[in-house]
Order: sequence, then structure tokens, then C-alpha cells
Amino acid sequence: MRHLITSALPYINGVKHLGNLVGSMLPADVYARYLRARGHEVLAICATDEHGTPAELSALEAGLPVDEYCTKMHEVQADLGRRFSLSFDHFGRSSSPQNRELTQHFAARLAEHGFLIERVTKQVYSIDDNRFLADRYVAGTCPHCGSDKARGDQCDSCTRVLDPADLIKPYSTLSGSTRLELRDSKHLFIDLPALGAEVRAWIDSHRDDWPTVTTSIAYKWLDEGLQARGITRDLKWGVPVDRPGYEDKVFYVWFDAPIEYLGATKEWADQDPAHRDWKGWWQGGDAVRYTQFMAKDNVPFHTIIFPSTIFGSREPWKQPDYVKGVNWLTYEGGKFSTREHRGIFMNDALELLPSDVWRYWLMANTPESSDADFLWDQFAAQINKDLVGVYGNFVNRVVKFALSKLGPDVPAGGAPGEREAKLYADLDGRVAELCRHLDEVAFRKAMQELRAIWVEANTYLADAAPWSAIKTDRDRAACVVRTALNLARVLAILSAPVMPVTSHKILDDLQVPADARGWPTRPMAEELAVLPAGHAFVDGGLLFAKIEDAQVAEWAARFAGKPA
Ligand code: 2FM
Ligand code: ZN
Repeated sequence: MRHLITSALPYINGVKHLGNLVGSMLPADVYARYLRARGHEVLAICATDEHGTPAELSALEAGLPVDEYCTKMHEVQADLGRRFSLSFDHFGRSSSPQNRELTQHFAARLAEHGFLIERVTKQVYSIDDNRFLADRYVAGTCPHCGSDKARGDQCDSCTRVLDPADLIKPYSTLSGSTRLELRDSKHLFIDLPALGAEVRAWIDSHRDDWPTVTTSIAYKWLDEGLQARGITRDLKWGVPVDRPGYEDKVFYVWFDAPIEYLGATKEWADQDPAHRDWKGWWQGGDAVRYTQFMAKDNVPFHTIIFPSTIFGSREPWKQPDYVKGVNWLTYEGGKFSTREHRGIFMNDALELLPSDVWRYWLMANTPESSDADFLWDQFAAQINKDLVGVYGNFVNRVVKFALSKLGPDVPAGGAPGEREAKLYADLDGRVAELCRHLDEVAFRKAMQELRAIWVEANTYLADAAPWSAIKTDRDRAACVVRTALNLARVLAILSAPVMPVTSHKILDDLQVPADARGWPTRPMAEELAVLPAGHAFVDGGLLFAKIEDAQVAEWAARFAGKPA
């Protein structure tokens, strides 16, 4: 099977936090790594989402032209992605020429099939800023509750949805200027109501296999009734609208961003056109299974709006077979905040601990059925228990014991007995379960199963107690240690989708040859005999360090946030 995987595109305006990471990029990577390990052909695509007003404003703040700002931030995000072992086949840019061409192509197809509507709208123009203002950059007094901090799209104090024209004493949040006027401006709208029945039938067909968070949000939108949505904006930075009368306009960032899933695939193919067929992935029909990853705020765009673009094109582009929506990760009971620097961001995280430690905790606590909270105490306790106490302890203890008591290679002697037979049977069942959960993209359950496998290994060692056996029966001790060293190989492979760096290290220390690093698909009786007696290995040292209370206290204070 060929698997196409996309992660919601991280917005360009800054380093992403752990909440962003767990919502899309990390689960997509774990899934991609798992499928590759199972021998599937995988194409994992991500990119930076670079257009729109927030990019323009961040560039202004950074004192850079917006294109230079985006180039710089793209590199920063790509580098952090690499350091987090995110194994995308391509990490593209929505500002690429490929995406410009495809975005204009989709708009043209929608127009050709009658799904674009032209409307004259009233937009706020700021005379002193010399530009149109997006709704959220107009502020003023709320006509409902009197708050003087209402934005043109919404009032945060009474939560009512607003129109900039509703605001009393409106001003520009860019300059503070009150010299605003409403100007007529022509815009293109996608006719969502005309495509609604097709979208609903498609969502219905996935009602039972997609996560509830995905389908419930999609149905909420459908049931509330779809409205035509603007796909152009009065901005400079974006994909130009290639039609007469639209010279000063660009496509709305949310129109071109999902098209970049295709755009980035084309960027990838253009790097090696003789061997890479981007259309084969996107028009591959049932031979390709397409899985999308995102947090819940992105679900409407991926289940209603972008699918409408695809349906409305009347071209055979792939719709997702599975939309993995997840809930929020919160930080110590509140929101992660970029503005207040509250919570842990990807660059901070890597200064504190190795990427694998974060990857494990995030996947074990993925906000699948409800929101999840990052709490420092719980984080440290879980890492100390699962990684230091169980997984790391097992591998480190076996290797140390083997080298100190039984020599520099896998020891010979003894034959597997009843306790080994039980181990094989338990693990055969558990590995099948782990695979089932990963196939179903159910990460919490998969991580529970992985943890249970580590526990199983530790229990085996405790029961078989080679340190006691060696006093009376060297062959028995040798058999247990040989089994346990082989177990370390199997655990490393099973853990690799979530903790690739650690797995690589264990397999290197055990000097496992390349052809013995594949996913364990044979019965455990065979998998646990892959490293034969006489196979040399080394002690690579401690795998995971304990997180101390003092560190937790320091880090909790450091990331509590400061006023914006
Ligand atoms: O919510 C966000 O951060 C958006 N940048 C996600 C875009 S997903 C895709 F459609 F491009
Ligand atoms: Zn209000």
C-alpha cells in the first residue's frame, strides 16, 4: 500500500510550541515511521504556511521584508523539525511557485464549474496605514457589552461575533489611527452551499471510522448551514489573484495553505523529476491511502472547505481517507501562549531534554478523546517511571550484567524453557495489539501497549533472575541473558517510531546488522534468537537520565510566562 501523509502546516510567524507539535507534525511522523518500518511506501509532506496578515506583521516587527522573514523562519522551523527527528519526505513552503500555480489552477477550475461568486463587500480601509485592515486588526468598543477591547471579528469579553462596522469608535490596531473608512471592494467567494450535499455524503461515508472530534465538528458546520466564503483578500503578501480587476488582491491564506499539500508534493517531485511522480500520489485513486493530521481548530478547513475546493475542481484529486483530528494540549491548566511565552516551545524543549523524551511523553498523552494538560510534576513522574525506571533500566541492566559476568559477546549455553515460552506468547499477543493500535492511528493505546511490552521485559528479567541463576547454573543465566539481549533489540525496533534516536543508539550498541533492524514480524521464538551466541556488543551507557525535583521547579518557573 502507498501511504500519503500530511501534517497541518505550521504557521510561519514563530517557533511552534509543544501543543502545535503534538497536534499534527509529531503524530504524522510517528505514523510515517511506523508504516515505513512495516514496509509500506510512504510520502510524508509538511510545509510552512507563509501568507496572510500575521506573517506581514511579524516581518514588520522583525524589521525584515516579508519574503526574507519567511525564508529565515522557514529555515528555523525546518531545523527544529530535523532536531525533533521529524522525518518528512519534504518540508515545503506555501509561498513556492508550485503552490502559486496550483492555487491559481484551483481557483480557475472552481470558476469554470460555476463555484465562484463575485461580490462587492465593504472593507475597512485605514487612511494612515495606507491599507485595508483585516477584521482582527480593527478594534473598538463592543456595542453589546461596552468592552473597549473588542476586535472587528469578535469581542473577547462577551464572545459575540462582530463585524468591524459594529464597533463604536473603531481604530487601527496597527497604528492606533481612527481615520478609518469603509470602502467597496470586490471579492471572490467559494459557493460552499452548492457543494454541501457532496461534502455531507462524503462525511457520512466516514461517520463510523473517523475520530469523533473530526466528524462532530464537520457535522456542526454542515448542520448550521454553509455560507459562501471569501477566498480573496485586499493584501499584498500572498498568491496573486490572476484575473482582471483583482490586481491588488491575493488569495486568502486559508485558500492556498491546504493546496500546498499538493504544492509541496510538486516541490518534492521537481527536485528529481525523473523518479518522482507527484500526480501519481494525488490522483492515485484507491492505490494510495491518504491520512491527514491536525488539531481541532483546523478540522472545518479540512473536512468542509478544502474538500469543497477539491470536489468543485471536478478533477480526480485525492480526498483524505482518514482525518486524524485531535483536541488541545494545554499547559499547566491554561493555554500555551506565543505572545506571553507561556509554555514550552520547540527550541526551549531541546535545550532541556533529548527530543525522544518529549516525543514519548507527547505521544503517550496525545489529546485524543479529550484535551490533555502538560503538568511538570506528572511529566517528570512519567518519564522517570516509564523511560528511566522501566525501558532504560531494562536495557542498561542487561547489558551491564552480561558484560560484567558473561563476557564481551552474547553468551552461549542453555535452552529456552517454560518462562521463555510464556514470554514469547505474551509478546506475540502484545506486538499484534501494538500494530493494531498503530494501524488505527490510536496513539494513546499504542503507547500503553508499548509501555506494557517494556514492563513485560522487565518482569521477565526479574522472574528469571540471571544474577541468582549464575551462582548455581551458568547455562541458565546465559540463556536468560541471551534472551534479554535479544529482547533489547526487539524493544528498540518497536519503540523506534516514537523514539528513533534512542532506538538507533541501542541497535548500534548491540551492533545489530542492518538486515536485522526490520520490524519483528516472525513469532517471538524466532525474533528473540536473532542475535546468536558469540555476537559482540558494547555498553553505550545510560539511556535516560532521571529528571530531578530541582530541575522541575526551575523549569516550571522559567516557562510560566511573562506579560506580552
Ligand atoms: O492553524 C494553523 O496553524 C494553520 N497554519 C494550519 C494550516 S493547515 C493547511 F491547511 F495548510
Ligand atoms: Zn462584548
